[in-house]
Amino acid sequence: MKNKALAIGLAVALVPVVAGAWPWSRDMMNQPSIKPQEPPVIPYPKDSVPVGGPWTKVRDRDAAENLKNPIPPTPESVAKGRALFKIYCFPCHGPNGKGDGPVGKVFEVPPADLSSDYAKELTDGWIWGTITFGSYVMPPYRWDTSPEERWHIVNYIRQVLQKERGNPLVKSAKKED
Ligand code: HEC
Repeated sequence: MKNKALAIGLAVALVPVVAGAWPWSRDMMNQPSIKPQEPPVIPYPKDSVPVGGPWTKVRDRDAAENLKNPIPPTPESVAKGRALFKIYCFPCHGPNGKGDGPVGKVFEVPPADLSSDYAKELTDGWIWGTITFGSYVMPPYRWDTSPEERWHIVNYIRQVLQKERGNPLVKSAKKED
């Protein structure tokens, strides 16, 4: 009696194993296509961008604070920065970076005055990190701008918005506006 129960139990337990091994027991999984994580791994095409935006060497704004600006503030860089500033920063920070842009008005915390002494004290890396990772309410712009473009914006802020009038870069920037 005990043996019979054991035999039935075993038979029942083994049915899925046996059934799974039958020749018609195939599913779509078993086919010659390459499975996830299976070699060969095809290299990403040149210039492809990760879903989360281009890689940065730093994790957050704090880690960016002491980054050195690798792009010299040439007139070309400043001109690029000005064009980018108009697209990405002007709506909130306003035409002269004073924090008086039309969209900036909806924020309870007003956008920072980028020409102020406060902003002058921020490091290049911190400003770059703010654009990359956002601030407390300011959203991040790392999906919209490349790391180099963000340094151009930093150069524009430093050379134009934070310089007194009379700076040749300010004049040329004003003339073109
Ligand atoms: C959608 C509105 C908005 C846009 C667009 C925006 N900012 Fe801001 N930004 C803010 C607000 C609001 C603050 C102040 C509150 C905070 O720090 O989040 C701020 C603060 C800052 C600060 C000061 C950070 C600090 O540590 O106090 C910097 C620098 C800055 N923005 C730079 C930029 C630059 C450069 C751009 C363009 C790439 C830009 N922002 C685009 C809203 C914006």
